[in-house]
Formats: sequence, C-alpha cells, structure tokens
Amino acid sequence: MLQNSNSDKNVIWHTSTVNKEDKQKLHGHKSLMIWFTGLSGSGKSTIANALQLELYKKRVSVYLLDGDNLRHGINKGLTFTEDDRKENIRRTAEIGKLFVDAGMVVLAALISPYEKDRQNARSIFIKEEFIEIYVKCPLEECENRDPKGLYKKARQGEIRQFTGIDQPYEEPTNPEIIIDTNVLSIQECVEIITSHLFNKVGLIKKTKE
Ligand code: ADX
Repeated sequence: MLQNSNSDKNVIWHTSTVNKEDKQKLHGHKSLMIWFTGLSGSGKSTIANALQLELYKKRVSVYLLDGDNLRHGINKGLTFTEDDRKENIRRTAEIGKLFVDAGMVVLAALISPYEKDRQNARSIFIKEEFIEIYVKCPLEECENRDPKGLYKKARQGEIRQFTGIDQPYEEPTNPEIIIDTNVLSIQECVEIITSHLFNKVGLIKKTKE
C-alpha cells in the first residue's frame, strides 16, 4: 500500500547543522513573520510593499508573500471556499515558517478572513516571531476604491463567495497592530509598523558605539 501521510512515523525530522540563530546572525537581525489581514482593497499589499522597501533600505533581508501572487503559483487552483482559503493560509504560513527559519523577515498579505485560520497560522511560530497586523478599512470605503473592479463584479453576481459581500470577514480579536487606512496615509502606516519593529520587537540589535 502506498503510504504518503505526513504523519507517517517512518518520516523522520532531520536537524540542520546550521540553525536558525546562525542564519539570523548572518542576516544581522531577528527573523519574523508579519501577517497582514484585511478586506480586499483595504491596502494590505500596498502597505506590505511600502514596508518591504523601507526594510530593504535598512538592509533587512525581507520577502513579501502576496496572496494574489501566490495564487498564480504554489496556491494555483485553490478557490475561495472556506476549505480552500484554509489551505491557502496553511500553505502560506508554512512557507513563511521556512523563511523565518532561514533568518529572514517575511511579510504575508492575505485577506485571511477567518480567525481560526489566522490562529492556526500563528500557532506554528514561536510567540515573538508572529506579528498580526489588521489593515482596517470599512467595507464601503474598500468598495469605493475597488482597485480591481471586483466588488462591482461581486455585486453584479459575476463573482461568488466574495469576502464582505457574500462571505464573512471576521475581524481579528487580538492583533499586535491595527492600522486604519481610512484615516492614515501609507507612509504613516509604515511608520507605525517600523516603530513597532525597531523599538518594541528590537528587530535589529543595537551595536555598541
Ligand atoms: S484568502 O481569503 O484566501 O486569504 P487571498 O488573499 O489569497 O484570499 O486572495 C484574495 C484576492 O483574490 C483578492 O485580493 C482578490 O483580488 C482576489 N479574489 C478573487 N475572487 C475573490 C473572492 N471570491 N473573494 C476574495 N477575493 C477574491
């Protein structure tokens, strides 16, 4: 019988001789998963991109996992049913974990509408390595912006299971950061996040002068 279950007791974890701490030293900073959640059109990708640039300028090794982009590759074929979104988030979290293990800062920008799925994503990281950012914006405003014209299509019934229209978005109950893109500029959002990362998380260790 073909056995390919990942809980197979015959598949044994191999410990790497170069560990996460060694890799963090190489990069010169801590490694983290920064998870952006919010409605389509709330500004997740825009802010994650602007943050990526800011971190890159500070010589942080950073990579952005964008929900839309992942759905062109590793997550190609997944739909927007509750089950497929769950799998989408699970895979993204697992990929993110590899980046964190490689000593990098990884940004994930996905709607990730269900609290349970986000909690599952969080649960595979150690506490201080997972930062959830709720990109808050009223549905009416996202629908007004409608950058990809998808809300219009959803209202016309051309797209089904659209978050905020005929599927729910569960607001995060305990995110590390909330940024309200209806009020703040992109730069202000980035400053709130970088201040958290540098002052609170201590992303880059200060060297003695
Ligand atoms: S998630 O819910 O599984 O986290 P993900 O962030 O990967 O979603 O993908 C959301 C993107 O797919 C949206 O930004 C939008 O461009 C597109 N999209 C297409 N159909 C839908 C839908 N039914 N609901 C939400 N987003 C959709």
